[in-house]
Amino acid sequence: MNTDEIYMDRCIEIAQKGKFHVAPNPMVGCLFVSNDVIISEGYHQKYGGSHAEVNAYQSIPSDIDPKTCDVYVSLEPCSYHGKTPPCSDLLIKIKPNRVVIGCLDPNPKVSGAGIKALEDAGIHVIVGVLEERCEQLNKYFFKVQKFNLPFVTLKWAQTKNKFMARKSSSKESSKISDSRNDSYVHELRAIHQAILVGSNTVNTDDPLLNVRYSEGNDPLKVVLSPNLSVDCKKQLFSVGRTLIYNKTSNELFDNYQLIKIDPFNIEGILSDLFERGIHSILVEGGIQVIQSFLDSDLWDEAIVIESNNSWDDGQIAPLLNSSPVSLKQAYNDNITIYNKK
Ligand SMILES: NC(=O)c1ccc[n+]([C@@H]2O[C@H](COP(=O)([O-])OP(=O)(O)OC[C@H]3O[C@@H](n4cnc5c(N)ncnc54)[C@H](OP(=O)(O)O)[C@@H]3O)[C@@H](O)[C@H]2O)c1
Ligand SMILES: [Zn+2]
Repeated sequence: MNTDEIYMDRCIEIAQKGKFHVAPNPMVGCLFVSNDVIISEGYHQKYGGSHAEVNAYQSIPSDIDPKTCDVYVSLEPCSYHGKTPPCSDLLIKIKPNRVVIGCLDPNPKVSGAGIKALEDAGIHVIVGVLEERCEQLNKYFFKVQKFNLPFVTLKWAQTKNKFMARKSSSKESSKISDSRNDSYVHELRAIHQAILVGSNTVNTDDPLLNVRYSEGNDPLKVVLSPNLSVDCKKQLFSVGRTLIYNKTSNELFDNYQLIKIDPFNIEGILSDLFERGIHSILVEGGIQVIQSFLDSDLWDEAIVIESNNSWDDGQIAPLLNSSPVSLKQAYNDNITIYNKK
């Protein structure tokens, strides 16, 4: 890595400290560097809070003139009045030596306007340092800005011989992944705004679908049950809020809401969730629901946790025809991540 990349790598690292609290805003990290020394760091800490550039600027020691600094920021500085004033105005006021930017902000309100404002003010701007990683850091945000649809992560566990569920008559335990990976799964829940399952998963497993083994907030719960065969006495309905997408009824209850989608399809459900402000969804099963997302081609990433154990029989997991982008061993499981082609 060259010097600019080393500082941008640090911006990405500190940006991630905001991962449980900034959604649906992007994670952003910013540094002020003078004479090859990091003078101050800042990141976007919580939704609606001050931006990374402001936080970094406010931590500059009083004996340092910010004009002498290079500013590193993982996302293009904003150029419009949102919940906070534009960061490009702040940087123009400071007039630092250079501004080094990871990637463009895909938000149509910015998208190059922040860079243009800095350049028009005579500031030397460099764009595209560790660009792909900076975009990947905010993959949910990029998807939403470009397509007006939420980012969809499919996640399931399968045995070494590819079973995802027991036969419906089986009384044997259906736990597949290593319990030591529960914190990883719960972190996935916490970094998505919604978690979605099918009615059979609710009726069979009686899951809570909340965050227990990680920091972060519980996601909104979403159940697909076109024929309303879901049992609304299951425990997940006793806490938090759940949306039940179905073919026939719109009705509001204390802890859950029936939402009619006609015709019933994944695209209609994703559009409705997007309109409700949901920008990222973790789809946790079961087989039929995961298959519907694959068939409709409306998914972005799939995370498959494969255990070391084999079962004698069961229900086969969906088959992906994408190439893996990463594979890691975690305790007794292999975790493989796929992107849609
Ligand atoms: N290994 C894992 O990671 C994992 C994760 C979750 C679940 N599971 C297991 O998977 C099994 C459940 O899977 P499953 O395939 O039987 O059921 P499922 O996918 O959980 O739910 C199927 C039901 O969802 C509804 N549904 C959802 N999308 C639909 C669509 N596009 N079109 C039509 N109906 C749709 C229908 O409900 P209505 O009948 O109400 O209309 C359907 O009966 C359980 O044994 C569970 O333990 C495994
Ligand atoms: Zn800003």
